[in-house]
Amino acid sequence: MLRLFVALVVLGLALACITSWVLDGYDTAWHPKRSLQHRTGDGVGSRGSSPPFPGGEMNNIFWFIQVSDIHISRFHDPRRIPDFEKFCTDTIEVIKPTLVLATGDLTDAKTESKVGSLQHEVEWQAYHNVLKRSRVMERTRWIDIRGNHGDYLSILSLSSFSCRKYSANQKIGSFHYVHRTPFGNYSFVCADATLTPGPKRPYNFFGILNQVMMVESLQSNQSIWFGHYTTSTILSRSPGVRDLMGSAVAYLCGHLHTLGGLMPVLHSRHPHGTLELELGDWMDNRRYRVLAFDHDLLSFSDLRFEQWPVVVITNPKNAQYLHPGVEPLGRIQRSTHIRSPITSILSINPPVL
Ligand SMILES: *[C@@H]1O[C@H](CO)[C@@H](O)[C@H](O)[C@H]1NC(C)=O
Ligand SMILES: *[C@@H]1O[C@H](CO)[C@@H](O)[C@H](O)[C@H]1NC(C)=O
Ligand SMILES: [Zn+2]
Repeated sequence: MLRLFVALVVLGLALACITSWVLDGYDTAWHPKRSLQHRTGDGVGSRGSSPPFPGGEMNNIFWFIQVSDIHISRFHDPRRIPDFEKFCTDTIEVIKPTLVLATGDLTDAKTESKVGSLQHEVEWQAYHNVLKRSRVMERTRWIDIRGNHGDYLSILSLSSFSCRKYSANQKIGSFHYVHRTPFGNYSFVCADATLTPGPKRPYNFFGILNQVMMVESLQSNQSIWFGHYTTSTILSRSPGVRDLMGSAVAYLCGHLHTLGGLMPVLHSRHPHGTLELELGDWMDNRRYRVLAFDHDLLSFSDLRFEQWPVVVITNPKNAQYLHPGVEPLGRIQRSTHIRSPITSILSINPPVL
């Protein structure tokens, strides 16, 4: 009896420790003391309160979508593929994102013992066919990365939508895309190869560094990093990855799904201020995310497929996700309008005050 009691107390303490560690890790609040660096974009700095300011016009804004852990499967959940196709047609049509980031685990391909390699090919084909039938790639820029199942890169590389196509250096499998607009340049850096766990990681740290320097030299207004893995899953093996991302406003990833429903929201903040925004899975939870840069301020909403309306308020942005190091936060004070340009499905107008 005593033994059982002691065991329960020990278990309780262990759970408390784990919980506090997890909650600490998934804290998005801005702690100035934690910040080691402040860049000139600081909310009170020069750029922070310089024009343009958010007003009544639909300008200096674009938006994009993230979807993750789709797990296209031939055998499980027959709704997964048709739902995904509907997402590619209807949802994309309504929201009209500039680009879509699919951050890995595109196909299921899980248990090798169950089936041979044919299954993988079939699943990749199913994925490819959805993209083709929905013609989503004609309506937006579709950027996908493979995620867990890197062994099947050979199949992915047959298709025209692979990571490799975009890769500046094919060996490292990392790449970046710059979205150019009249009001600014925005970098999207794929960090997949840097973060892929496993003994035979093909990644070349200097290759990544070169890419980062290239991106920095482009002098983008903002940069976003994205990959499949959370940095916590790879942290011990990849010292410096969070430092590399230091100038990014956010790192978008997937991989953890929602931890079986335990952690429906997995948002955290790196020591330099970069937000790490894990997105729940498409596979079971049909999650996706709409993000917007409005006057260089990042806002987003985590959503569920076919839950309407879709609303993203871009000004004033959610105070929990401010990045004073890189966002011109002073613009919020000098703005004149509440802005919510993505208010689908019934109205595209900003909300009435
Ligand atoms: C983007 O950066 C350029 C150059 O620094 C600046 O002139 C422009 O106003 C910025 N765009 C926005 C929306 O802040
Ligand atoms: C975007 O980048 C191009 C090429 O690097 C540059 O010429 C242009 O001035 C940039 N635009 C803005 C608004 O900063
Ligand atoms: Zn997954």
